[in-house]
Amino acid sequence: MTSETTDRGRAADGGSGWKGEPGDTSTLLGRPAVGYLDAAADTLGTVKREILRRLGAEPGRRLLDVGCGNGTDVLEIAGRVGPSGEAVGVDVNERAIEEAQARSTGTGVPASFLTASAYALPFPDGHFDGVRSERMVQHLADPAGAIAELVRVTKPGGRVLVADPDHGMWAPDLDDRDATRTVLTWWFDNIRNPWIGRRLSGLLRAAGLLEVQVKPMPVVLDGIAAADGLTGFSDAVRRAGEVGVLPPDRVRALTDNIAEREADGGFLMYGVIILAEGRKEG
Ligand SMILES: C[S@@+](CC[C@H](N)C(=O)[O-])C[C@H]1O[C@@H](n2cnc3c(N)ncnc32)[C@H](O)[C@@H]1O
Repeated sequence: MTSETTDRGRAADGGSGWKGEPGDTSTLLGRPAVGYLDAAADTLGTVKREILRRLGAEPGRRLLDVGCGNGTDVLEIAGRVGPSGEAVGVDVNERAIEEAQARSTGTGVPASFLTASAYALPFPDGHFDGVRSERMVQHLADPAGAIAELVRVTKPGGRVLVADPDHGMWAPDLDDRDATRTVLTWWFDNIRNPWIGRRLSGLLRAAGLLEVQVKPMPVVLDGIAAADGLTGFSDAVRRAGEVGVLPPDRVRALTDNIAEREADGGFLMYGVIILAEGRKEG
């Protein structure tokens, strides 16, 4: 992403101040990062638990989270690996790391945090029993370069797990399919790799991982508040009108349609996060 106006006429920062550089979590699609990541963690609890299960967060293991944000997952892992293990989080965003460090202070769990880029992880080869990265690769200019680093710092036989949404799969329950498709495409094209979910297994195999598996996990946003919390869908509709992606009458119709659905049993939107994992040879 760039901070320039896109060819669809929407400022990439959504007018919010987010310039879209990889790692800038000051806002994400216009929402403040700290509150946004916490709300997303609640919505995506099932996804996070499945990642943990697959990663094998057991006592004594040394595990890494790349693009750890506020450190929610690192703290969870640290509680499971216990005093004989280690959980490390890295994020390119210093403010995210400061927040994660503040949250870990006084918890007594073996968690540590470092500001670092996924492209240059400050660890020796084979340092970790397993590595996870959730909803980061979607923002990267060079997904293959970052995944190569994840693999490098994983020990032979260890697991690498990458989870990202496929933003081409969002399905809001609305009547005007054409207008809905227009809004969705325009909004999510502001993410650098909106379709990365469907690329992940290929990327992991190309990085040399074995036994690569893909598990699509549903993300159910039940009610407009949930849809807005994770995807900013109401903002997308409103802003599509402001920048001329949709004419005002169709924006009004979509907005009314959301309200009708909400009043009549509840607005529903769903999508998918792809969990891709593989084992490093050895
Ligand atoms: C959507 S957030 C997800 C955070 C966290 N994984 C979670 O599940 O709450 C994406 C994170 O990736 C980080 N990030 C983006 N580019 C990065 C890079 N090149 N290296 C490390 N972290 C990066 C961002 O700073 C942000 O914290």
